[in-house]
Amino acid sequence: MRGEFPDPSRPNMPLLAFETSCDETSAAVIHEGRVLANAVASQIDLHAEYGGVVPELAAREHLRNLAPIVRAALKEAGIHANQLEAVCATQGPGLPGALLAGLKAGQAMAFVLRRPFLGIHHHEAHLYSPWIVGDPLRGDFSSFEPNVSLIVSGGHTILVHVEAELRHRVLGSTVDDAAGECFDKTGKLMGLGYPAGPLIDQLAAEGNPKAFDFPRPMINSNDDDFSFSGLKTSVRYFLRDRPELLEDRQAIRDLCASVQAAIVDVLVAKVIRAAKRLGVNCVTASGGVTCNSSLRARLATACQKAGLNLRLAPNRVCTDNAAMIGILAERKLLQKTAMTPLDADIMPNWELA
Ligand code: KG4
Ligand code: ZN
Repeated sequence: MRGEFPDPSRPNMPLLAFETSCDETSAAVIHEGRVLANAVASQIDLHAEYGGVVPELAAREHLRNLAPIVRAALKEAGIHANQLEAVCATQGPGLPGALLAGLKAGQAMAFVLRRPFLGIHHHEAHLYSPWIVGDPLRGDFSSFEPNVSLIVSGGHTILVHVEAELRHRVLGSTVDDAAGECFDKTGKLMGLGYPAGPLIDQLAAEGNPKAFDFPRPMINSNDDDFSFSGLKTSVRYFLRDRPELLEDRQAIRDLCASVQAAIVDVLVAKVIRAAKRLGVNCVTASGGVTCNSSLRARLATACQKAGLNLRLAPNRVCTDNAAMIGILAERKLLQKTAMTPLDADIMPNWELA
Protein backbone atom coordinates (compact mmCIF):
# COMPACT_ATOMS: atom_id res chain seq x y z
CA MET A 1 0.00 0.00 0.00
CA ARG A 2 1.27 3.43 -0.83
CA GLY A 3 0.60 6.02 1.85
CA GLU A 4 0.37 9.74 1.45
CA PHE A 5 3.61 11.44 0.50
CA PRO A 6 5.68 12.58 2.28
CA ASP A 7 4.76 10.22 5.12
CA PRO A 8 7.43 9.67 7.81
CA SER A 9 5.77 6.41 8.84
CA ARG A 10 6.43 5.00 5.38
CA PRO A 11 10.14 4.43 4.98
CA ASN A 12 10.06 3.36 1.36
CA MET A 13 11.04 6.56 -0.46
CA PRO A 14 13.99 6.32 -2.83
CA LEU A 15 14.63 9.74 -4.26
CA LEU A 16 16.70 11.02 -7.14
CA ALA A 17 18.93 14.06 -6.62
CA PHE A 18 20.60 16.35 -9.16
CA GLU A 19 23.58 18.65 -8.60
CA THR A 20 24.86 20.94 -11.37
CA SER A 21 25.68 24.23 -9.64
CA CYS A 22 29.24 24.55 -10.98
CA ASP A 23 31.49 22.09 -12.83
CA GLU A 24 30.32 18.72 -11.51
CA THR A 25 27.36 16.91 -13.08
CA SER A 26 26.03 14.56 -10.44
CA ALA A 27 23.00 12.35 -9.84
CA ALA A 28 22.39 10.31 -6.70
CA VAL A 29 19.77 7.87 -5.44
CA ILE A 30 19.00 8.03 -1.71
CA HIS A 31 16.87 5.56 0.22
CA GLU A 32 16.27 5.70 3.98
CA GLY A 33 19.48 7.65 4.51
CA ARG A 34 21.52 5.25 2.41
CA VAL A 35 23.37 6.50 -0.67
CA LEU A 36 22.49 3.82 -3.24
CA ALA A 37 24.37 5.67 -5.98
CA ASN A 38 26.33 8.90 -6.29
CA ALA A 39 27.46 9.28 -9.91
CA VAL A 40 29.68 12.29 -10.61
CA ALA A 41 31.07 13.51 -13.95
CA SER A 42 33.75 16.12 -13.28
CA GLN A 43 34.49 18.81 -15.87
CA ILE A 44 37.90 19.70 -14.41
CA ASP A 45 39.79 18.67 -17.57
CA LEU A 46 37.45 20.72 -19.78
CA HIS A 47 38.11 23.94 -17.84
CA ALA A 48 41.78 23.34 -16.99
CA GLU A 49 43.09 24.93 -20.19
CA TYR A 50 41.21 28.15 -19.37
CA GLY A 51 42.53 28.26 -15.79
CA GLY A 52 39.01 28.40 -14.32
CA VAL A 53 35.39 27.40 -14.90
CA VAL A 54 33.92 28.84 -18.12
CA PRO A 55 30.17 29.20 -17.37
CA GLU A 56 28.89 28.65 -20.93
CA LEU A 57 31.01 25.51 -21.39
CA ALA A 58 29.92 24.21 -17.99
CA ALA A 59 26.23 24.56 -18.88
CA ARG A 60 26.66 22.79 -22.23
CA GLU A 61 28.66 19.99 -20.64
CA HIS A 62 25.95 19.47 -17.98
CA LEU A 63 23.38 19.08 -20.76
CA ARG A 64 25.59 16.48 -22.43
CA ASN A 65 26.28 14.60 -19.19
CA LEU A 66 22.89 14.64 -17.49
CA ALA A 67 21.14 11.73 -19.24
CA PRO A 68 24.09 9.30 -18.97
CA ILE A 69 24.70 10.28 -15.33
CA VAL A 70 21.06 9.71 -14.36
CA ARG A 71 21.05 6.38 -16.19
CA ALA A 72 24.28 5.37 -14.41
CA ALA A 73 22.90 6.35 -10.98
CA LEU A 74 19.63 4.43 -11.46
CA LYS A 75 21.53 1.40 -12.74
CA GLU A 76 23.96 1.43 -9.83
CA ALA A 77 21.06 1.78 -7.38
CA GLY A 78 19.27 -1.10 -9.12
CA ILE A 79 16.01 0.79 -9.47
CA HIS A 80 13.77 1.97 -12.29
CA ALA A 81 12.69 5.60 -12.54
CA ASN A 82 9.08 4.47 -11.83
CA GLN A 83 10.13 3.42 -8.33
CA LEU A 84 11.25 6.92 -7.38
CA GLU A 85 9.11 8.67 -4.79
CA ALA A 86 10.53 12.15 -5.27
CA VAL A 87 13.02 14.19 -7.27
CA CYS A 88 15.20 17.03 -5.99
CA ALA A 89 17.85 19.31 -7.47
CA THR A 90 20.13 22.16 -6.50
CA GLN A 91 18.18 25.40 -7.05
CA GLY A 92 21.01 27.75 -6.09
CA PRO A 93 23.39 29.37 -5.57
CA GLY A 94 25.66 28.74 -8.55
CA LEU A 95 26.30 29.51 -12.21
CA PRO A 96 22.95 30.35 -13.89
CA GLY A 97 23.35 28.15 -16.97
CA ALA A 98 24.71 25.26 -14.94
CA LEU A 99 21.88 25.47 -12.39
CA LEU A 100 19.27 25.68 -15.15
CA ALA A 101 20.44 22.40 -16.67
CA GLY A 102 20.02 20.36 -13.47
CA LEU A 103 16.97 22.12 -12.05
CA LYS A 104 14.97 21.87 -15.27
CA ALA A 105 16.01 18.23 -15.80
CA GLY A 106 14.84 17.42 -12.26
CA GLN A 107 11.55 19.30 -12.64
CA ALA A 108 10.89 17.65 -16.01
CA MET A 109 11.49 14.23 -14.53
CA ALA A 110 9.20 14.96 -11.56
CA PHE A 111 6.53 16.14 -14.01
CA VAL A 112 6.73 13.03 -16.18
CA LEU A 113 6.81 10.67 -13.19
CA ARG A 114 4.13 12.70 -11.35
CA ARG A 115 6.28 12.89 -8.26
CA PRO A 116 6.92 15.73 -5.80
CA PHE A 117 9.90 17.99 -6.43
CA LEU A 118 12.16 19.81 -3.99
CA GLY A 119 14.66 22.58 -4.83
CA ILE A 120 17.67 22.50 -2.50
CA HIS A 121 20.12 25.18 -1.33
CA HIS A 122 23.61 24.01 -2.30
CA HIS A 123 25.30 25.36 0.85
CA GLU A 124 22.64 24.02 3.17
CA ALA A 125 23.42 20.60 1.67
CA HIS A 126 27.14 21.12 2.39
CA LEU A 127 26.23 21.67 6.07
CA TYR A 128 25.01 18.06 6.31
CA SER A 129 27.68 16.34 4.19
CA PRO A 130 29.91 15.80 7.27
CA TRP A 131 27.13 13.54 8.55
CA ILE A 132 27.42 11.28 5.50
CA VAL A 133 29.65 8.42 6.59
CA GLY A 134 30.80 4.89 5.82
CA ASP A 135 31.22 2.71 2.81
CA PRO A 136 28.68 2.47 1.29
CA LEU A 137 27.84 6.05 2.27
CA ARG A 138 24.84 6.79 4.48
CA GLY A 139 23.51 9.76 6.42
CA ASP A 140 24.18 9.28 10.13
CA PHE A 141 21.95 11.68 12.03
CA SER A 142 21.65 9.58 15.21
CA SER A 143 24.74 11.33 16.57
CA PHE A 144 23.83 14.77 15.20
CA GLU A 145 24.68 17.63 17.56
CA PRO A 146 24.69 21.43 17.23
CA ASN A 147 27.91 22.57 15.59
CA VAL A 148 29.95 25.28 13.94
CA SER A 149 30.34 24.35 10.29
CA LEU A 150 32.99 25.54 7.83
CA ILE A 151 32.09 25.44 4.13
CA VAL A 152 35.28 26.01 2.25
CA SER A 153 35.49 25.64 -1.53
CA GLY A 154 36.67 27.32 -4.72
CA GLY A 155 33.79 29.79 -4.62
CA HIS A 156 32.92 30.09 -0.93
CA THR A 157 34.29 30.36 2.58
CA ILE A 158 31.38 30.44 5.01
CA LEU A 159 31.14 29.86 8.75
CA VAL A 160 27.74 28.72 10.00
CA HIS A 161 26.20 27.98 13.38
CA VAL A 162 24.05 24.88 12.90
CA GLU A 163 21.79 25.17 15.94
CA ALA A 164 19.72 22.07 15.23
CA GLU A 165 18.93 19.85 12.29
CA LEU A 166 17.59 22.11 9.51
CA ARG A 167 18.15 25.24 11.62
CA HIS A 168 21.19 27.41 11.06
CA ARG A 169 22.57 30.94 11.13
CA VAL A 170 25.44 32.29 9.02
CA LEU A 171 28.20 33.72 11.22
CA GLY A 172 30.52 35.07 8.56
CA SER A 173 31.99 34.60 5.13
CA THR A 174 34.79 35.83 2.93
CA VAL A 175 34.76 39.51 2.06
CA ASP A 176 36.76 38.87 -1.14
CA ASP A 177 38.39 35.65 -2.43
CA ALA A 178 37.42 32.19 -1.19
CA ALA A 179 40.09 29.97 0.37
CA GLY A 180 40.04 27.57 -2.60
CA GLU A 181 40.39 30.52 -4.95
CA CYS A 182 43.46 31.59 -2.96
CA PHE A 183 44.97 28.10 -3.36
CA ASP A 184 44.20 28.16 -7.10
CA LYS A 185 45.41 31.72 -7.78
CA THR A 186 48.64 31.48 -5.77
CA GLY A 187 49.26 28.11 -7.44
CA LYS A 188 48.85 29.80 -10.82
CA LEU A 189 51.47 32.39 -9.79
CA MET A 190 53.78 29.45 -9.04
CA GLY A 191 53.13 28.00 -12.49
CA LEU A 192 51.01 25.08 -11.23
CA GLY A 193 48.01 23.84 -13.25
CA TYR A 194 44.32 24.35 -12.48
CA PRO A 195 42.93 23.64 -9.97
CA ALA A 196 46.13 24.13 -7.96
CA GLY A 197 44.68 23.23 -4.53
CA PRO A 198 45.32 19.46 -4.72
CA LEU A 199 48.82 20.05 -6.19
CA ILE A 200 49.75 22.52 -3.46
CA ASP A 201 48.59 19.95 -0.90
CA GLN A 202 50.90 17.31 -2.47
CA LEU A 203 53.93 19.56 -2.90
CA ALA A 204 53.53 21.09 0.57
CA ALA A 205 53.99 17.64 2.10
CA GLU A 206 57.70 17.92 1.22
CA GLY A 207 58.03 21.63 1.96
CA ASN A 208 58.82 23.76 4.99
CA PRO A 209 55.74 25.74 6.15
CA LYS A 210 57.99 28.21 7.96
CA ALA A 211 60.26 28.91 4.96
CA PHE A 212 58.39 32.07 3.95
CA ASP A 213 56.25 34.27 6.16
CA PHE A 214 52.99 35.23 4.46
CA PRO A 215 50.19 37.24 6.10
CA ARG A 216 47.28 35.58 7.93
CA PRO A 217 44.51 38.05 6.94
CA MET A 218 41.82 38.78 9.56
CA ILE A 219 43.08 36.00 11.84
CA ASN A 220 42.50 38.20 14.89
CA SER A 221 39.56 40.22 13.59
CA ASN A 222 36.66 40.53 15.95
CA ASP A 223 34.20 38.77 13.64
CA ASP A 224 33.70 35.50 11.74
CA ASP A 225 34.59 36.89 8.31
CA PHE A 226 37.56 35.92 6.14
CA SER A 227 39.71 37.65 3.52
CA PHE A 228 42.21 35.94 1.23
CA SER A 229 42.92 38.39 -1.57
CA GLY A 230 45.66 40.16 0.44
CA LEU A 231 47.49 36.87 0.87
CA LYS A 232 47.32 36.27 -2.89
CA THR A 233 48.65 39.79 -3.57
CA SER A 234 51.44 39.31 -1.06
CA VAL A 235 52.52 36.10 -2.86
CA ARG A 236 52.36 37.96 -6.21
CA TYR A 237 54.71 40.75 -5.04
CA PHE A 238 56.97 38.27 -3.27
CA LEU A 239 57.43 36.27 -6.50
CA ARG A 240 57.83 39.44 -8.57
CA ASP A 241 60.83 40.32 -6.39
CA ARG A 242 62.23 36.79 -6.21
CA PRO A 243 61.41 35.13 -9.57
CA GLU A 244 64.45 32.85 -9.25
CA LEU A 245 62.54 30.82 -6.64
CA LEU A 246 60.30 29.46 -9.40
CA GLU A 247 63.32 27.72 -10.95
CA ASP A 248 64.01 25.85 -7.71
CA ARG A 249 61.92 22.74 -7.05
CA GLN A 250 62.48 22.76 -3.29
CA ALA A 251 61.63 26.46 -3.11
CA ILE A 252 58.30 25.71 -4.82
CA ARG A 253 57.58 23.00 -2.26
CA ASP A 254 58.44 25.49 0.51
CA LEU A 255 56.25 28.15 -1.10
CA CYS A 256 53.33 25.68 -1.27
CA ALA A 257 53.81 24.69 2.37
CA SER A 258 54.06 28.34 3.48
CA VAL A 259 50.96 29.49 1.56
CA GLN A 260 49.00 26.47 2.75
CA ALA A 261 50.05 27.15 6.35
CA ALA A 262 48.83 30.74 6.10
CA ILE A 263 45.40 29.69 4.76
CA VAL A 264 45.01 26.80 7.20
CA ASP A 265 46.09 28.91 10.21
CA VAL A 266 43.31 31.39 9.50
CA LEU A 267 40.62 28.77 8.89
CA VAL A 268 41.46 26.74 11.99
CA ALA A 269 41.80 29.73 14.32
CA LYS A 270 38.47 31.25 13.28
CA VAL A 271 36.49 28.00 13.40
CA ILE A 272 37.76 27.08 16.86
CA ARG A 273 37.20 30.58 18.20
CA ALA A 274 33.60 30.64 16.95
CA ALA A 275 32.90 27.18 18.39
CA LYS A 276 34.22 28.19 21.82
CA ARG A 277 32.33 31.48 21.80
CA LEU A 278 29.04 29.79 20.91
CA GLY A 279 29.55 26.94 23.36
CA VAL A 280 28.94 24.15 20.84
CA ASN A 281 30.66 20.78 21.28
CA CYS A 282 31.19 20.03 17.63
CA VAL A 283 32.95 21.41 14.56
CA THR A 284 32.24 20.22 11.01
CA ALA A 285 33.80 21.00 7.63
CA SER A 286 32.93 20.39 4.00
CA GLY A 287 33.64 21.73 0.49
CA GLY A 288 36.56 21.00 -1.83
CA VAL A 289 39.24 22.58 0.38
CA THR A 290 38.27 20.18 3.18
CA CYS A 291 40.13 17.55 1.10
CA ASN A 292 43.31 19.40 2.12
CA SER A 293 45.37 17.04 4.27
CA SER A 294 46.90 19.81 6.38
CA LEU A 295 43.51 21.38 7.10
CA ARG A 296 42.12 17.98 8.13
CA ALA A 297 45.10 17.23 10.40
CA ARG A 298 45.23 20.71 11.93
CA LEU A 299 41.48 20.75 12.63
CA ALA A 300 41.81 17.34 14.28
CA THR A 301 44.62 18.53 16.56
CA ALA A 302 42.93 21.84 17.40
CA CYS A 303 39.56 20.21 18.15
CA GLN A 304 41.18 17.60 20.34
CA LYS A 305 42.98 20.32 22.29
CA ALA A 306 39.78 22.33 22.68
CA GLY A 307 37.70 19.28 23.65
CA LEU A 308 35.51 19.55 20.55
CA ASN A 309 34.13 16.72 18.43
CA LEU A 310 35.14 16.97 14.78
CA ARG A 311 33.14 15.73 11.79
CA LEU A 312 34.87 16.14 8.45
CA ALA A 313 33.00 15.27 5.27
CA PRO A 314 34.64 12.21 3.68
CA ASN A 315 36.78 13.31 0.72
CA ARG A 316 34.34 11.98 -1.90
CA VAL A 317 31.49 14.12 -0.55
CA CYS A 318 33.64 17.22 0.15
CA THR A 319 33.57 18.25 -3.49
CA ASP A 320 30.22 18.91 -5.14
CA ASN A 321 27.99 15.85 -5.37
CA ALA A 322 24.30 14.96 -5.56
CA ALA A 323 24.41 12.61 -2.54
CA MET A 324 24.50 15.58 -0.15
CA ILE A 325 21.61 17.20 -2.03
CA GLY A 326 19.55 14.01 -1.73
CA ILE A 327 20.44 13.38 1.92
CA LEU A 328 19.25 16.88 2.87
CA ALA A 329 16.14 16.57 0.68
CA GLU A 330 15.19 13.33 2.42
CA ARG A 331 15.50 14.97 5.86
CA LYS A 332 13.33 17.82 4.63
CA LEU A 333 10.71 15.48 3.16
CA LEU A 334 10.54 13.58 6.44
CA GLN A 335 9.88 16.90 8.20
CA LYS A 336 7.13 17.69 5.69
CA THR A 337 8.85 20.66 4.09
CA ALA A 338 6.69 22.33 1.45
CA MET A 339 7.38 21.11 -2.10
CA THR A 340 8.87 23.35 -4.78
CA PRO A 341 6.63 24.20 -7.76
CA LEU A 342 7.65 22.59 -11.04
CA ASP A 343 7.98 26.01 -12.68
CA ALA A 344 10.18 27.43 -9.91
CA ASP A 345 13.20 29.28 -11.26
CA ILE A 346 16.88 28.95 -10.43
CA MET A 347 18.27 31.15 -7.63
CA PRO A 348 21.88 31.87 -8.66
CA ASN A 349 22.45 34.37 -5.81
CA TRP A 350 20.46 32.54 -3.11
CA GLU A 351 22.09 33.60 0.18
CA LEU A 352 22.31 31.14 3.05
CA ALA A 353 20.26 32.81 5.78
O1 KG4 B 1 33.77 22.20 -3.64
P1 KG4 B 1 34.56 22.27 -4.91
O2 KG4 B 1 34.74 21.01 -5.69
O3 KG4 B 1 33.94 23.28 -5.93
C1 KG4 B 1 33.54 24.54 -5.67
O4 KG4 B 1 34.42 25.43 -5.69
O5 KG4 B 1 32.34 24.73 -5.45
O6 KG4 B 1 35.98 22.89 -4.53
C2 KG4 B 1 36.99 23.07 -5.45
C3 KG4 B 1 38.10 23.81 -4.74
C4 KG4 B 1 39.20 24.26 -5.69
O7 KG4 B 1 39.56 25.58 -5.38
C5 KG4 B 1 40.35 23.31 -5.36
O8 KG4 B 1 41.62 23.85 -5.59
C6 KG4 B 1 40.10 23.07 -3.89
O9 KG4 B 1 38.71 22.98 -3.75
N1 KG4 B 1 40.74 21.82 -3.42
C7 KG4 B 1 41.79 21.80 -2.57
C8 KG4 B 1 42.13 20.44 -2.40
N2 KG4 B 1 41.27 19.69 -3.15
C9 KG4 B 1 40.42 20.56 -3.75
N3 KG4 B 1 42.44 22.80 -1.97
C10 KG4 B 1 43.47 22.46 -1.17
N4 KG4 B 1 43.86 21.18 -0.96
C11 KG4 B 1 43.22 20.15 -1.54
N5 KG4 B 1 43.61 18.89 -1.33
ZN1 ZN C 1 29.91 23.29 -3.22
